[in-house]
Amino acid sequence: MKILSLPVILLLARTTEAGLVDDIVNALRNAATCGGCHALLVPLKLLAITGDSPFTKSITAVCKTLKAADADVCEGAVGTQAPILAHALRSIDPLGHTATKVCDAIFGLCQPPAVNSWKVPFPKPAPATPKAFVSTGKAPFQVVHFSDIHIDREYTPGSDAKCTKPICCRPYADKVGPVSQSAGAMGEHGCDTTTSLAQNLLRTVSANNKFSIFTGDVVEASVWLANRKDTTERLTQFNQELASILQHPVYPAIGNHESAPTNAFPRNTTTKSDVQWLFDLESTGWAPLINATAAAQVARLSGSYSTIVPNTNLRIISINTVYWYKANFWLYDSDRKQPDPNGILAFTIQELQAAEDAGQRAWIIAHMPPGTTDTLRDQSNYYDQIVQRYRNTIAGQFFGHTHQDQFFVAYSDYKKRSAETAVNVQWVAPPITPRGGNPAFKVYDVDPDTYEIMNARVFRTDLSDPEFQTNPRWDLYYDAREAYAPLIGGWPATTSLNPAFWHKLTEAFETNESAFQLYETLRRRGWDPVQCNAECKRVSICDMRSARVENACSVSKPGLNFRRRSVESDDDGGHAVDECESSGLGAILSQAHTLTSDDLESLREQLREIIQEN
Ligand SMILES: *[C@@H]1O[C@H](CO)[C@@H](O)[C@H](O)[C@H]1NC(C)=O
Ligand SMILES: *[C@@H]1O[C@H](CO)[C@@H](O)[C@H](O)[C@H]1NC(C)=O
Ligand SMILES: *[C@@H]1O[C@H](CO)[C@@H](O)[C@H](O)[C@H]1NC(C)=O
Repeated sequence: MKILSLPVILLLARTTEAGLVDDIVNALRNAATCGGCHALLVPLKLLAITGDSPFTKSITAVCKTLKAADADVCEGAVGTQAPILAHALRSIDPLGHTATKVCDAIFGLCQPPAVNSWKVPFPKPAPATPKAFVSTGKAPFQVVHFSDIHIDREYTPGSDAKCTKPICCRPYADKVGPVSQSAGAMGEHGCDTTTSLAQNLLRTVSANNKFSIFTGDVVEASVWLANRKDTTERLTQFNQELASILQHPVYPAIGNHESAPTNAFPRNTTTKSDVQWLFDLESTGWAPLINATAAAQVARLSGSYSTIVPNTNLRIISINTVYWYKANFWLYDSDRKQPDPNGILAFTIQELQAAEDAGQRAWIIAHMPPGTTDTLRDQSNYYDQIVQRYRNTIAGQFFGHTHQDQFFVAYSDYKKRSAETAVNVQWVAPPITPRGGNPAFKVYDVDPDTYEIMNARVFRTDLSDPEFQTNPRWDLYYDAREAYAPLIGGWPATTSLNPAFWHKLTEAFETNESAFQLYETLRRRGWDPVQCNAECKRVSICDMRSARVENACSVSKPGLNFRRRSVESDDDGGHAVDECESSGLGAILSQAHTLTSDDLESLREQLREIIQEN
């Protein structure tokens, strides 16, 4: 689409205060297209140059005028995140490629720019005859995969489980009227996980399983209140619970909610801020859980580490993928292309090479799956190159973040996606938080020779069970082999649930409507099923086959990016885009296109006052 050139826009931009206000209001009025978004960034950049404070106040005014969230949520979410956006806008060309990423990630008005081609460098070529990992038919061992626990330490039984904020079940100061639904002791939908449910989970999974992997997001979704002190307490407490309650080893990964402000992970090229405090904290907190060398890596390598599971030939590589996350606004503070922020890709390669050299198998664990469209296309592409190169070494990849029980398949040839070209699969665990569904976790049967996944069973606790509030039961929800193998004409008991299995399943979804609906139900743990029409189904299956997100079929849309599913319109068939971001700046600004004329006139007055005050 036609984007005005920068000199033209600068000619149009007036320098007087009133001119700036008019430019912002006019640009907001026209911010309905990608070009319109770029044009909006021009006066927003000028506003950012006048200072963080007028910028933040102005965006807060937009939030309140839109009624995008309660006033306190607007104040808090914008107050903590807008300064990061202001810093980014001051540093970049509003018409450049980074700005296009901002217009995709924050406003949903641009599609992501094409991948910046980069041939990922590897220390050695793939071996001509890769080591064969052969099962000798020993009994599998069990590994628990849980994710997105989002523990709300301020959850208050008896408070209202219905509210207008991103999470409820807290005694909010602005609450008026009687409690409409009294929060139970163990948990409620619309609320994050209670301490009692979290501890119940850790006790439940302790028996019979060799170890756990936890793919991140400890902290609750009150992003408008997130601060370093509380977050530090939350993380410390959870690390203590992992060490004291869980009766087997656990390998954790860093989630986007672990930082304060939420999602804020500045790159090491940024001098304005850093999150070393978090990596130091987790390095100390995880030291009793992972080995000492690995704990030291956490501090040195932006939260990533690699370790060998004792008495196995399995290397676990835990990486911080939040450096590839669209809602990490620190990634937009430079137009200089940085293919590998903080060296996360390089670390992954180094550790996979070490595994290959030692004849080990490797599992990669991380919070955000590089196959979700929350991932920047560049890093998803580079990560995919790594997976292709080390496909013989990688026996599994495990993630969370999407709050959905799903999978993404990687192919050696994305133009010919088939069971034959399927090379790897990203397993995504459902969340523990009951906020948008029933809490669930996975248990894998792992072959002790190949470390491949022979089966996956999902356990779930049902909030509608009358006993849930006193004695939550985690029942088998489904068994992947049992549920899915018949749909692809059976699967040999001695063959793992490998990438070909998952590809064949996507083929079954194409032809068997009820099989697809079964998957859709399981994906959301039986909660709030949405009718997925033919177009939605096409997109959904395409996305399963797109571990490399440039091949995905979901498109960015204003007002859909980052919105919680409960308020999402249904025109893409009801697919949550990002339940995890939960009312950050993206949720607010992606609604800017809905401002009415009256809203805009009101904003004109508010912005005038803000800028004059400055
Ligand atoms: C930690 O793991 C590394 C391999 O990942 C190993 O070389 C080292 O001996 C381990 N350290 C301890 C204290 O177990
Ligand atoms: C940032 O991290 C990368 C990867 O570890 C490293 O190569 C680079 O030197 C670091 N840059 C700065 C400025 O610290
Ligand atoms: C289609 O899927 C359903 C599961 O929902 C299954 O019961 C049925 O056998 C499948 N049909 C075929 C032809 O595989």
